[in-house]
Amino acid sequence: MNLNSQTVISLGAGEFDALEFKLANRTACVGIVGLGYVGLPLALLFTDAGFRVTGFEIDPQKVEKLSRGESYIYRIPSTEIQLARMKQFSATVDYSVISSMDAVIICVPTPLNEQREPDLSFVINTAEAITPHLRPGQLIVLESTTYPGTTEEVLVPIVEKNPGGLRAHRNGNGAERDSLYVAFSPEREDPGNNTIARRDIPKVVGGLSKRASQLAATLYQAIFRRIVPVSTPAVAEMTKLLENIYRCVNIALVNELKLLCIRMGIDIWEVIDAASTKPFGFQPFFPGPGLGGHCIPVDPFYLSWKAKQWDFQTRFIELAGEINVSMPYHVVSAISEALNLAHKPLYGSRILILGVSYKKDVDDLRESPALTIIELLKRKGAIVSYNDPYFPMLLKGRHYNLQMECVPLDNIGDYDCVAIITDHSDYDYPTIVRDAQLVVDTRNATRGINSSKIVRC
Ligand SMILES: NC(=O)c1ccc[n+]([C@@H]2O[C@H](COP(=O)([O-])OP(=O)(O)OC[C@H]3O[C@@H](n4cnc5c(N)ncnc54)[C@H](O)[C@@H]3O)[C@@H](O)[C@H]2O)c1
Repeated sequence: MNLNSQTVISLGAGEFDALEFKLANRTACVGIVGLGYVGLPLALLFTDAGFRVTGFEIDPQKVEKLSRGESYIYRIPSTEIQLARMKQFSATVDYSVISSMDAVIICVPTPLNEQREPDLSFVINTAEAITPHLRPGQLIVLESTTYPGTTEEVLVPIVEKNPGGLRAHRNGNGAERDSLYVAFSPEREDPGNNTIARRDIPKVVGGLSKRASQLAATLYQAIFRRIVPVSTPAVAEMTKLLENIYRCVNIALVNELKLLCIRMGIDIWEVIDAASTKPFGFQPFFPGPGLGGHCIPVDPFYLSWKAKQWDFQTRFIELAGEINVSMPYHVVSAISEALNLAHKPLYGSRILILGVSYKKDVDDLRESPALTIIELLKRKGAIVSYNDPYFPMLLKGRHYNLQMECVPLDNIGDYDCVAIITDHSDYDYPTIVRDAQLVVDTRNATRGINSSKIVRC
């Protein structure tokens, strides 16, 4: 039996069963809104699992590339896009196609604005764009990271303004006729981490009603081994924030202890290695040049903003933010001091930045501390160059307009200082140390190399 949308509408109270049936037997049409680092891989996973998948994207260039079978994300080869297109994957800028979707998953950005407050404009714009095309018995899942309450307080009121008068299904709502099913399910991907397959990362799901949770669980069961249902969307939203705040606070702790260890002449990396041998109660976090990426520097502030509405100060988040934000300044001081010991001023020194992405082996520059470090060094009069295999150019970004071109690594000895900011696996660190005049290492990338040229900071 293959139920189409007409059948679903005429079934009325059977909308739920019909949708669940289609999700379970993978005949459902799945729409993914926002084909970025989260949405595109998700679309490919659902395509691989046999669903007919349509990607909705406001950037027409991305849609055109996908239509030509080209990828725009480094770790997704174009062959994967071509394969997906031969299955049932397509991309569009046309929101009217939403009406033929059975499930719609929203993966749009949730950044901070200039005042470091949540910018939900992408979520709101998406909700407003899909609303005119909604029909009964559709499942809508928000995956974008956000503060607890967003699904219920922001998304649901907008989608309930649909022209057909459809209501989001809530617990206690007997009638399922003319219902939409709404859930929140956080994305937990760790880009560049190849030690765990995406399907092995348990998927947390919190529906507005038990039925919404059940439908979302059925959908995700096709691509994830374990589903973790929680009682409400707010619990699922808070779960994601707890995970990221936990990382943010622990990274801040280890960054602060690194500063103390440097002063005391103790190698923090050796300390972390030793502490990591404890078989319980300790999880290692590593210091670095500052936080980067779309999540850890941003998400905690979604909660601190929301907490203020409850007259509550999230002090751990604020303190962690303060420490982590100061790390690029620490790196610049360390470079300056290292040059000073070599009888050179920072002003006029030639500095090569190695690695600009926010973490190793990824093509993602968002909130990267390398950009702040370059900007600070330039302001102090240093002559800065960079190398990163993932970025041939640094153009205008959200915060800086650096306008730089990646330089080759064939004249390392010409620089007064080489600063390792992102420890990409492709770099040959022994050769870099051998050829450089001075190396400032923010990631312990030169672990095991003994040289008086290295300053670990
Ligand atoms: N990147 C990660 O590793 C990661 C991990 C966990 C959670 N998240 C969360 O997932 C969400 C998405 O992150 P991302 O990294 O994929 O962002 P991204 O910027 O890579 O992708 C978002 C995409 O959405 C598109 N878009 C924006 N508004 C749209 C609209 N109205 N309609 C259609 N498309 C629209 C953008 O053009 C872009 O292609 C964020 O909330 C982020 O915090 C990201």
